[in-house]
Amino acid sequence: MKKDVEKMFNPALLMRADLRDLKPYQPHHYPGTIKLDTNENPYPFPPQALDEISAGLKDVCFPRYPDPLAVALRRDIAAYVGMQPEQVLVGNGSDELIFNLALSFGSGGKVVLATPTFSMYRIHSQIAGAEAVAVPREPDFSINAGEIIKAARITGAKLVVLCSPNNPTGNATPLQVIEEILRNTNAVVVVDQAYLEFGGENCVPLLNKYANLVILRTFSKAFGLAGLRVGYLLADPKIIKELMRVKQPYNLNSFSQAAARIALKYLPAFKNQWQKIIADREQLLSALAVLPAVQIFPTDANYILFTTAIDAGVVHRELLARKILIRNLGQDMPGYLRVNVGTPAENKAFMQAMQEIIYG
Ligand SMILES: Cc1ncc(COP(=O)(O)O)c(C=O)c1O
Repeated sequence: MKKDVEKMFNPALLMRADLRDLKPYQPHHYPGTIKLDTNENPYPFPPQALDEISAGLKDVCFPRYPDPLAVALRRDIAAYVGMQPEQVLVGNGSDELIFNLALSFGSGGKVVLATPTFSMYRIHSQIAGAEAVAVPREPDFSINAGEIIKAARITGAKLVVLCSPNNPTGNATPLQVIEEILRNTNAVVVVDQAYLEFGGENCVPLLNKYANLVILRTFSKAFGLAGLRVGYLLADPKIIKELMRVKQPYNLNSFSQAAARIALKYLPAFKNQWQKIIADREQLLSALAVLPAVQIFPTDANYILFTTAIDAGVVHRELLARKILIRNLGQDMPGYLRVNVGTPAENKAFMQAMQEIIYG
């Protein structure tokens, strides 16, 4: 009986037709490897901050829903970035906020993306029923403001997205280029600054000048909280009012709200980590630069984009055989690889493996 029902019932036919071919996100899970593929902070959480989180567990009220407005966390984020709490919205990772932006301003229309860029913008746009319009970056990966403005105008896009520093290319966009775009479009312009703590110009000063600016930030990278999923968005309260319509009421759990507040309390300890990561990035750039036929690209983030004369798939596989995981950008950027800065020991292991692979 069950077999007959299964034969007749095909959920794929009930799925929205334009989503039937969408490939689900494939997590790259290789246990026991040195993970240099997802741009996380490689350092352990500052021990005192961890103690405080553990001690605070007893005050987190698990039976109750979390504060839907995350009042205390938004107040602390506002103080960190130098804005008002009304200009802050928190999300279950910035991924959730990207989705909410696509739902609010993209659905049924176009979303202009400066590509190549973080793939979730294309995927969330598609899920939200929006069409992503790719505006390729220049050969040096800089943004051509004129092309972005033109694309937004021609397509009538209500959402334009730039990442600065950009993932996966690593380069940041100067504020004057961002301002040129903000001045010449009525669309909501999202500047994703997930990696700002590692470099690039801060867009916060532009918030009081441009009502159409949205800045996305996260605790996943610099603050080492990727596992707790805390992202935030900075914008004019009028934009936040619209986004509140699609926000899940209890999107950010109580534990993550409390942990992110403690992370901000230990800012000096994190700043020390960022300084180390930035210094080690420069060392890694120099070490990669001397390898024959390896091309590296300038970066303002905690990762480096590079190409090799050897096929990227082979380099990726050979590194994996040596228990080192980096990102092969595959279809998004064929032939390109991305490695994030790890601890000094991890960077050394990566460089040793690269030398073995390149010199054979
Ligand atoms: C540019 C950019 N934006 C957003 C995200 C998502 O971050 P979160 O962990 O806050 O969802 C990433 C993650 O890699 C990213 O690279």
